[in-house]
Amino acid sequence: MHTSDTEALKRAAAERAAEWIQDGMTVGLGTGSTVRHLLDVIAERRAAGEWRSIVGVPTSDDTEQRALRLDIPLATLAERPRMEVAIDGADEVDPQLRLIKGLGAALLREKIVAAASAQLVIVADETKVVQRLGTKAPLPVEVDPFSEPIQPDFLRSLGAEPVLRVKDGRTVVTDGGNHILDCRFPDGIADPEDIERRLLLRPGILECGLFLGMATAVVIAGSGGIEVRTRGAAR
Ligand code: A5P
Repeated sequence: MHTSDTEALKRAAAERAAEWIQDGMTVGLGTGSTVRHLLDVIAERRAAGEWRSIVGVPTSDDTEQRALRLDIPLATLAERPRMEVAIDGADEVDPQLRLIKGLGAALLREKIVAAASAQLVIVADETKVVQRLGTKAPLPVEVDPFSEPIQPDFLRSLGAEPVLRVKDGRTVVTDGGNHILDCRFPDGIADPEDIERRLLLRPGILECGLFLGMATAVVIAGSGGIEVRTRGAAR
């Protein structure tokens, strides 16, 4: 697929997900290239005189900077600890709307914002759909840098093949000052709930990119059109 086709799909998903937004809402703003289209949509609606009272809570410094440039009003989590909806991207989506997130390194804040929101709407193109999590994307595991030396052996004991995330020759540091170990599972993740439980019990592991039972709706844009899958409280 051409880049322009992929971008058109991401824009289409963002436009559909924007239907969850109403003026006056506090909206969690995710991170990534699909969310960038959502920010554009919000800015366009505000420029047209709509949504003058919405407030966004950004999940990353990158989203914060973009939103500020687009004149989207923002608040901190301290100011708005509850949101009606958060809209975010994903790296994988399975049939039960379980997700892998974090290839953009914002998983910790994304999960915090998702937990503070009544609804989590995911925007994705069809390339993110998988039958089993971990078959296309690695699972990002965010660790306290002090704990990093003790984590690879532990992660291997869970069946993972961990690799420290590096970009341009430098260790990636998250907005919270942590490191990421990207974990490949050769056969995918057979039991995501069990893996998440084990990871989060481990000292020094701060979060992982498994978002289980969190997405209330997933908007998937494909060459055949837009599909909306919902769960629980979704509209
Ligand atoms: C950011 O940390 C990730 O969770 C993103 O939501 C994810 O990588 C999706 O990004 P794209 O929309 O760019 O694929």
